Amino acid sequence: MWTKDLSVDNKVIDKEHQQLFALIDNFYAGIKDNSPRERLEELILGLVDYTKIHFKNEEDYMVEINYPDLAKHQALHQSFIDKVNNYYERLKNGKLILSIEVTNYLKDWLVNHIKGSDQQYAAFVMK
Ligand SMILES: [Fe+2]
Ligand SMILES: [Fe+2]
Repeated sequence: MWTKDLSVDNKVIDKEHQQLFALIDNFYAGIKDNSPRERLEELILGLVDYTKIHFKNEEDYMVEINYPDLAKHQALHQSFIDKVNNYYERLKNGKLILSIEVTNYLKDWLVNHIKGSDQQYAAFVMK
């Protein structure tokens, strides 16, 4: 769940982060409900798509504010997309037995990324 301490002092980006948590929660609920694999595939694809949109918006914002660590940040985004795509592929091929651990990984990554990286551009803007 998104909490105030995750704010990056930008209303649009905070909203997008909230949406990402909501999508991860839906995915988690899908696993808990024993939803069919097709449904889980749909949910994870929705998460991939929205994550891409969010990362693009965030990267545009970093360009706008002349953020010096953009390239490093972009690489972090890419590795997350690769990871989630990999989950999707494995799920599609019936190789991944989705566990709560997968959603925990996604949630932890998001929290750590916001706190460790996104809040750095927020701090940069404040300077
Ligand atoms: Fe980010
Ligand atoms: Fe972000």
